[in-house]
Amino acid sequence: MSGLLVYGSYGYTGNLIAEAATERGLDPVLAGRERRTLESQAARLDCEFEVVSLDEPKVLDMVLDDATAVLNCAGPFSRTWEPMVEACLRTDTHYLDITGELSVFEAVHDRGDRAADAGVMLLPGVGFDVVPTDCIAAHLASRLPDADRLELAFRAENGVSRGTAKTMVEHLDSGGAVRRDGHIEDVPVAHESRTVDFGWGYDAQHAAAIPWGDVSTAYHTTGIPNVTTYMAMPERAGRVQRVAGLVAPLLSLPPVRTGLQWLIEQTTEGPDADDRASGRSYVWGEVQNGDGDRAVSRLRGPHTYALTVETALATAERALDGDAPVGFQTPAGAYGPDLILEVEGVEREDVV
Ligand SMILES: NC(=O)c1ccc[n+]([C@@H]2O[C@H](COP(=O)([O-])OP(=O)(O)OC[C@H]3O[C@@H](n4cnc5c(N)ncnc54)[C@H](OP(=O)(O)O)[C@@H]3O)[C@@H](O)[C@H]2O)c1
Repeated sequence: MSGLLVYGSYGYTGNLIAEAATERGLDPVLAGRERRTLESQAARLDCEFEVVSLDEPKVLDMVLDDATAVLNCAGPFSRTWEPMVEACLRTDTHYLDITGELSVFEAVHDRGDRAADAGVMLLPGVGFDVVPTDCIAAHLASRLPDADRLELAFRAENGVSRGTAKTMVEHLDSGGAVRRDGHIEDVPVAHESRTVDFGWGYDAQHAAAIPWGDVSTAYHTTGIPNVTTYMAMPERAGRVQRVAGLVAPLLSLPPVRTGLQWLIEQTTEGPDADDRASGRSYVWGEVQNGDGDRAVSRLRGPHTYALTVETALATAERALDGDAPVGFQTPAGAYGPDLILEVEGVEREDVV
């Protein structure tokens, strides 16, 4: 029996991870709630599988009993993290996921003490959100140890998957968020914008503030009390976001939300293999201290979903090998700022 259980293995991202895990000989156990889909995936990948829904705690405990680590790929994670984390705490199983949801990071963080007592690692966010940004944050904090302000930005190419689009709909009414003086504060969507030099030919990109997972995690990793996160987008997209923020209460009404999710279900396929092979991702970060000193670093890496597969498996492999610091962890907090450099095709440079 493998030590790794991939839950949500037949979703778009879960399947990419399951395929890569199998290719690496990790012999994952595939799991989810839909028997038929699991059966055919398990036959194709020659893996064991377990059918279990998250509202069956006793079955979940039996399934996790033999596992060393769970890699939860079933999102929106606002709906899946809690039963899976609770099952991990009951069964002494390390928990990893690929969430990017700010509220989920904070909620998992709140389970940190119980996890430490149980000898379990809780490591959410092992995908594109937040491994590269968390690693840049940690790298910058080591370059300017008394920094009190951190800005992070990313630029992603070639589309999102259905699950990511549905997860975005799930949080439509959450607005924006930043960290100020150590506390997460609600702000209007896209309340700030700036120009970012991502390098590698993308030197003057417009970016608008979004509530990226690092508003939670970068603080836990670095202790820097003021954090704002940005996503590269055309200026008019930032304006649309601000307008959407104004009508968010309407967009988040259950019938409207259900309608949007249905529409996504019908229309969004997700990036294909060519998109994943040709697209690149870019991350930029800047820290400043009270004296006005600053440091700027940036990195370029593979397409966001290709990178997610690599970082998710790199962290899961460490946990399987026993390198799993207990309690709540962030990627760079657990494995250091150079974790991201282990991914083939990632380049990092210090600009200032
Ligand atoms: N951190 C990152 O950078 C990163 C990268 C990629 C994806 N993601 C996130 O990962 C999630 C999945 O994305 P995706 O594109 O793979 O989505 P997807 O293709 O829609 O797959 C979602 C998977 O989750 C399962 N699932 C959803 N809700 C569930 C529930 N309540 N109980 C049990 N299983 C449930 C689905 O199973 P059923 O079909 O049975 O519902 C399916 O297997 C999204 O939240 C996305 O935002 C994050």
